[in-house]
Amino acid sequence: MRGDYTRSGPDFVIEQDWTAYTAEEHALYRRLFERQSKLVPRHACPEWIEAIAGLDCAGGIPDFRDISAKLRKQTGWELVAVPGLIPDEAFFTHLAQRRFPVTVWLRRPEEFDYIAEPDVFHDFFGHVPLLFDGIYADHLHEYGKGGLKAMRLNAVTFLARLYWYTIEFGLVRTKAGVRAYGAGLLSSGGELAYCVEDPRPQRLAFNLERIMRTAYQIDRYQERYFVIDSFEQLLRETAPDFTPIYARVRSIPMEVA
Ligand SMILES: [Fe+2]
Repeated sequence: MRGDYTRSGPDFVIEQDWTAYTAEEHALYRRLFERQSKLVPRHACPEWIEAIAGLDCAGGIPDFRDISAKLRKQTGWELVAVPGLIPDEAFFTHLAQRRFPVTVWLRRPEEFDYIAEPDVFHDFFGHVPLLFDGIYADHLHEYGKGGLKAMRLNAVTFLARLYWYTIEFGLVRTKAGVRAYGAGLLSSGGELAYCVEDPRPQRLAFNLERIMRTAYQIDRYQERYFVIDSFEQLLRETAPDFTPIYARVRSIPMEVA
């Protein structure tokens, strides 16, 4: 895993050390931001578009403290800086306490189009704006609590598929057509248009148990997306106790992506 983990404690939180970013890094972030900004009006969901407009974060890598101050006021969330990917338990614990972990490092210029691990651009641009939406924010909070429970039930694999097909690669039906709300899509130069416009991938109605039975590929565009009607639906359908659902999903053969 990339990132410097030597400075982090058991919760993996570190100082963002915003003053240490170089001018080149801020410029690279700006170029990523500009490229995606051209794509989002036609492909991103309206909640995300509205939120990013209020953030004033196009000029360079944002200082998480400024964003957290705004976020705390609006939905009670805050950002915490982390060295990179963190273990499930630490990740779920942060979400369950309305803290969103954001990776501090930025990709290299040669990784402009594709990066295997999430960096500050993916985490910030993709995930953070929707934390300003009250319903989405509540959903993610519940997801964190559900994650800790899934660990006890040995069901993280199933819950991770839900995360993948919603929070990372989810689509939502809007008045203007299907739009992306998943962070993996919103931060992708190629897949953001593909997921909305290309005729090849399947766009299936949200189905919790089917999602939990559907494996995913991390190294190519998705062959299927799941489309929610609204964040209310996401919150409502993921609210029940998953214990009996996990038991059912375990007993049915898996769909291979
Ligand atoms: Fe992500």
